Amino acid sequence: MSAWQEGRRSDAEPCREQDIGLFEITNRDGRARLGRLHTKHGILETPALLPVINPNIRTIEPREMWDRYGISALITNSYIIWKHDNLKQQAIRDGVHSLIDYPGVIMTDSGTFQSYIYGDVEVGVEEIVEFQNSIGVDIATMLDVFTRPDMSESEVKSAVMETAERAAISIQTAKDTMLNGPIQGGVFKDLRILSAKKMAKHDFSIHPIGGIVPIMEKHMYKDYVKIMLSTLPYLPPNRPVHMFGCGHPMLFPMSIALGADLFDSAAYALFAKDGRLLTPWGTEKLAELVDWPITMPCVAYTSPNEVRGLDSEEQVKILARYNLEVTLTELARCKQAVRDGTIWRLAERRSHQHPALREAFLWITTSPNKAGLSVVDLEELAMTDRAAARERDNTRGSWENSWDWIVSAQESPKKGGVSWGGDDTYFRPHIVEARRQLTSRWKTPEPKGNGSDDVLILHGRPGPWRERCSDLMTRLTHHAEGMEVMIMTPLGLIPYSMEDLNPFSHVSGPSWIWRRKPDLPWIRRELERFELGDRRIILCDLEGDGIQARCMNTLVEAGVLKAINDENASDIPLDTEGRSIAIDKVRRRHVSDKMTVLLNVEHSLARELLQDATFVINRQGRIKNAISSSGKHIASPRLTDGGISLTTDGAIELHSHRRRKIPTGFDTTQAWNFIGEGPAWVVVDDDAEPFVRKGRNVFHGFVLAADPWITPGRTCLIVNQKGELLGHGLSNCCSEEFAVFKKGIAIKTRDGLREAN
Ligand code: GUN
Repeated sequence: MSAWQEGRRSDAEPCREQDIGLFEITNRDGRARLGRLHTKHGILETPALLPVINPNIRTIEPREMWDRYGISALITNSYIIWKHDNLKQQAIRDGVHSLIDYPGVIMTDSGTFQSYIYGDVEVGVEEIVEFQNSIGVDIATMLDVFTRPDMSESEVKSAVMETAERAAISIQTAKDTMLNGPIQGGVFKDLRILSAKKMAKHDFSIHPIGGIVPIMEKHMYKDYVKIMLSTLPYLPPNRPVHMFGCGHPMLFPMSIALGADLFDSAAYALFAKDGRLLTPWGTEKLAELVDWPITMPCVAYTSPNEVRGLDSEEQVKILARYNLEVTLTELARCKQAVRDGTIWRLAERRSHQHPALREAFLWITTSPNKAGLSVVDLEELAMTDRAAARERDNTRGSWENSWDWIVSAQESPKKGGVSWGGDDTYFRPHIVEARRQLTSRWKTPEPKGNGSDDVLILHGRPGPWRERCSDLMTRLTHHAEGMEVMIMTPLGLIPYSMEDLNPFSHVSGPSWIWRRKPDLPWIRRELERFELGDRRIILCDLEGDGIQARCMNTLVEAGVLKAINDENASDIPLDTEGRSIAIDKVRRRHVSDKMTVLLNVEHSLARELLQDATFVINRQGRIKNAISSSGKHIASPRLTDGGISLTTDGAIELHSHRRRKIPTGFDTTQAWNFIGEGPAWVVVDDDAEPFVRKGRNVFHGFVLAADPWITPGRTCLIVNQKGELLGHGLSNCCSEEFAVFKKGIAIKTRDGLREAN
């Protein structure tokens, strides 16, 4: 009988020698990531929860965690083993895996937490790392100095400095054992940054965020997220981040959305001892339950009442299992949300579970009022939670970079609809990024100055708008070419040429979100973001039938279509030739605007490339391919998300228009400073060239340089060191990530160029 049939899982296989310690990303959603950490006891898939095992008291056997729960890593305490002679001798003799009977990844802590609880520990800095090494742990922890939230700034600073001073000798002592380099700093932003910068310089494998247990115990979740946001942007992105002592499932979605990879939990056992159950929305007392908050496999055939009747040891065992099962389920839910691109939405939902969590969430999303970044001007939110949150925190402005760090990693457009979640919707980072991209890159053509340079705002209905408005657009293009047509969506105004763009066109929610009365000052501010602030505004409600007639009447009333008399308004004359010229103009605009916004092509260049373009149209009348005047298929609008896919001929064309020098290195300056520079370039080394030319993906370790504006999910051009085009593809990461990752796919190549051109 196989191990699997017996209910056993086979033991972990060691990873390849050269991979040990490496971390790779397999999926991402903004700063949230799914990864694989390579160790001597197999691959640890992240995000992961490492249950805490006390070698003296085992509520659930480690072997059962491996076999039954599929847990690939756990954490135990080397200091406890070191202190108890019987454990110590056995660990030295047989190794830690045999001591606790566990075949997976074992991480050990160093005794720092005991020093926080009991005041001091008698073990030395090198001694404890040496010991962890000698008992064969997979991931050891150096002896850091714990920082409590009640410590003064100078006390915390000396703890940070002392921890940093111990780093070099700890790394040296660990030899080839992977080592945790904890970040301290209490609740002081600058000291967290200092700690992150100092620890990042050493060759640690993982960075735990330390000193957060008392913060979580006191429900200081706003401080918890501030600690994350002040630390993570300064850590090398190729090292997993571990939230030390965080094991409550309620915190998982938000922590993962902000970039956490590892958690450890004594909570499953501690809460069980206390007769309490963990749930994704908080904690419940067994004493008060008639039904289980969630049915879990371990309690499927029993009731809270029956469990209350068990002796206390049995009761703790069953509650510990319950807590572990709930925790693992929430973690699995988070992982799926990362794959689906909905982790922020999950964090947003969970934020309502606890007032302190909600406060933390509102604090993160109270984005600094940087022009063009927030959808709703904060001034307008005077009565809302966010305005209140901002008022109470006058340091918010100094966190602008952290918010940008989250926003800049978002993929846009992405697949899938936006489900309306009230005001929170505006502050979802991928929506903020979509708006930033649109308003910073889109440009209106030079005004015609023929009296038709107004803006027509279509409002009152959800999309797709093309079905109802395409004839209207054709006629307007013919009769009033300088007029911009914008659509009012619940996420802000969008140009008509972007009418199918995700997320704007994919919002599902109550019908009133589309029926909001247009507010002129708001529209004016929106238009200013598009540099259309000085245009005359004409409003047209799309509700009901006869849209075209109504629009035309509105335009006639506004005096835009002077040539048309009222009777003819709904049916502006347009001969066949005029119609086909106008239809082509609308199509050209559609593709050129998308190239400008989504491929970062300078708007006049995009228009020039499409000057005499022709289009292949599908059965629904939508553009399938854009063909340049020289007969080359250069791009294809995507029907799923309203994006645009570059073709190889399109890549060659855009490559030939590059004005900038070849990038050297990895600049981390914010992406939005490089408007109109085209798709980012990625320079790969000579070994990768033949593979890219064959259309193979680019792996980390082969990228030598990248443009600063490269971000996940965006089209990029792959070049060699001479700047010759090798292929094009979609990036998996930001510039600073290319610089440090050694494993995993860096760019998904769409196509390679067989020969040098
Ligand atoms: N466990 C919980 N918090 C900490 C911490 O700050 N440092 C270490 N080493 N272990 C911890």
